[in-house]
This record gives sequence, structure tokens and C-alpha cells, in this order.
Amino acid sequence: MKSNFELTCMQRAVQLANKGAYTTSPNPNVGCVITKDGRVISEGWHYQAGGPHAELMAILNTQKDLSGSTVFVTLEPCAHYGRTDPCVDLLIKKKVQRVFFGSLDPNPLVNGKGAKRLQEHGIEVFEGLCKEQVIEQNKGYFNIYNKKRPWITLKIASTIDGRIAMANGESQWISNDQSRSDAHSHRAMSDALITGVGTIINDDPRFTVRLNDQNIKFKKPHIFILDSQLRTPINAQILKQDHVFLVCTQEAPLSKLNQFKELGCEVIQQPIAERVSLILLMEYLNNQEYNQVQVEAGTAVNGSFIGRGLADELLIYMAPKIMGSSGRSMFQIDEPTAINKLSLFRLLKVKQFGDDACMQLRLRSEDV
Ligand SMILES: NC(=O)c1ccc[n+]([C@@H]2O[C@H](COP(=O)([O-])OP(=O)(O)OC[C@H]3O[C@@H](n4cnc5c(N)ncnc54)[C@H](OP(=O)(O)O)[C@@H]3O)[C@@H](O)[C@H]2O)c1
Repeated sequence: MKSNFELTCMQRAVQLANKGAYTTSPNPNVGCVITKDGRVISEGWHYQAGGPHAELMAILNTQKDLSGSTVFVTLEPCAHYGRTDPCVDLLIKKKVQRVFFGSLDPNPLVNGKGAKRLQEHGIEVFEGLCKEQVIEQNKGYFNIYNKKRPWITLKIASTIDGRIAMANGESQWISNDQSRSDAHSHRAMSDALITGVGTIINDDPRFTVRLNDQNIKFKKPHIFILDSQLRTPINAQILKQDHVFLVCTQEAPLSKLNQFKELGCEVIQQPIAERVSLILLMEYLNNQEYNQVQVEAGTAVNGSFIGRGLADELLIYMAPKIMGSSGRSMFQIDEPTAINKLSLFRLLKVKQFGDDACMQLRLRSEDV
């Protein structure tokens, strides 16, 4: 049983870690609080990969003698030479007395090794305070190690009869301004957006990110278009953006492929026929360290993610509108053979944006 003070310090560290939500990827969000004689003496958080870790920031943020201090850090301190030096060496050198951390680091280079090194040097180590929050705020980072693929969220704007577009393809706008603004903040926290060529042809989207708070710095997500035969119109708005990847098959016409490359797009040609493979794409994203990915697509692509069990989370902005049965549904999937074979999600959160409701759902078996 930890004291209220210890819990408060770790909660503060979790809060600090959140400041890196838009920038740390592929690194995790980490926050750190240092206390001595029952008082907080310093704080720090990790801002971006390659930059100082949260522990170093907290150490640099104080002139005080840290011997005998207690360190609260959300993730196990690292014990290896990566982009920066090991944090455990720093804590040992500073003669801290106790280290609380929320969760072990899933990275095998660190996992358990950081804690062991500290203990070998006589530092008391306590694991598990605010563990759930720490894993939740790093769900993409944990997914990469646990499932060898990014955390996938399907973001959908829907009517209450589950329609995402009119029969003629029109879908702008189903949800209201507040919902769309919330969706933009989820976009900004994503390393990549995936869409389908159907959406590109119908909507000609730009997938820009607009945040209400202009002071928030974020990394613009890379855009992946699933387009087996390279049907994306050459004058599509999206092609004017940076970091656009067209994912096609070996059957895509070479002339189109060269045209897109000349426009500055990256083309990922999968060595398969017919349709882009999501499994191969997941391998690619995993290897390239994309931790968190948002799918913003139509019926077909959404259905493929659900059908392959690749949707960790659904973010459904539901507007109180009825489109009728000729509208396009959220997912194109094969009809299950029995009612007990339906895909199951659990409701994590519901938020209200004006008249819209946003449901955050998790795949039942996929709790982080
Ligand atoms: N309300 C919303 O949240 C929302 C969001 C986005 C779009 N939309 C609407 O959705 C409609 C478009 O729906 P859609 O189903 O035509 O488009 P989509 O799902 O965006 O794209 C479908 C296309 O993606 C390609 N694709 C490549 N690999 C795939 C794979 N593994 N699985 C599935 N598809 C793959 C297929 O074309 P190839 O076989 O040629 O590769 C397929 O026809 C539009 O009306 C748009 O306005 C609504």
C-alpha cells in the first residue's frame, strides 16, 4: 500500500508524460518527479526521440543535491545505450535512494534490466504505481512490442442508423464542428493515417491537422493510401501534402507508379496480386516504428480492418441524423454464421460534443 503522497507524485508524473503525447513517438511518453524530505524538488518529461529522457530533464531542472531522494518515473528507467545514455547510470551516480516506476518497459533492451541494475546498486525499487494509466498513455508503444504492429484506431463519423455516406458518396459533414475538432486532436497524436482509394476518389480529402490550441506542437501524421491498382487521381489534393505513401500491388501499372514517384510520393509495392495486404502493411509500419495509426476510410477498408481483427479501437462520432438504408454502412464484412460469432467491443468512454455522441470502443479481447 503506497501513501497518498507517493500516489500524488506518480499521478503528477503521468500528467507530465502526457505533455509529450503529440511529439515523443516512436519513443514512449514519460514523466518524472523527484522528491526529497517529503517535498517535490524537481520535475521533467520527455519531449521527443533523441532528446533527453524524463529522468535527465528532472535532474537538469534542479540544482539540489539528489542523494537520498525519491524518483517517481512513469516507465522503467532505461539501462541501455540508445539515442541517449542509460538513465539508470545517472540515477546511481546521483545517489538516489528510491525509485518508483509505473510499468516495466516492454522494450526487451530495457525490460527488467533497468530495475535490476538499480537494485544491484542498493536503490529501492517499487513497480506498478499508476500502471494502467502508464500503459494507456503508451498504448501504441506497448502494442509494437506485444503484437508487433501499431495500435490501430478506426475513426468514423456516422448517423444513428450507422451510415457513413449517402449512396452517391456524399459524407461531408455528418458530425458537427466540435466532433471534428476532437477528431483532429486524435489525428495529431497519430504517427500515420490510413485511408482507401475509395475515399480519395469520393472526397478528395487533404487530411490536414487543425488544433484549437495553436501552441501545441505536433508531428504531422504520414498518409497511407490503400490503392491496389494506383487509381488515385493524379490531381488529388492529398498528393500536394508531404509524406504521402501509396500502397499498391505488383499489378499496378508501371506508368502510374512512375508518375506518382515523380510527384514526390512514396510508392510501396507489395509483392502480391489483387488487393493490398493489411498484414504486409502492418509489418512495414512495425518495422518503420509507427506506433499509433488512425484509419479514416470508407466501408471497404473499415470492414477489412474489422474482418482481420486489426482494429484495436473504434472512435465513432455519432450524429443524431438518419440517412436511410441506401446510405453506405460503416463496415463491409461477411455476415457472421451465428449471432454468437459477432465481433465484440466494449464501451470505454462516451463523450458528448453538442448533439453528437463520441463512443470510444475497444475490441473485447484486446485490452491493453
Ligand atoms: N463518415 C466517415 O467517417 C467517412 C470516412 C471516410 C470515407 N467516408 C465515405 O466512404 C465512402 C468511400 O467508401 P469506400 O468503401 O468506397 O472507400 P474506402 O474504404 O476508403 O476505399 C476502398 C478501396 O480501398 C482499396 N483497398 C486496397 N486494399 C484494401 C483492403 N485490404 N481492404 C479494403 N479495401 C482496400 C480498394 O480499391 P482497390 O481494390 O482498387 O485497391 C477499395 O475499393 C465515401 O463516400 C466517403 O465519403 C466516410
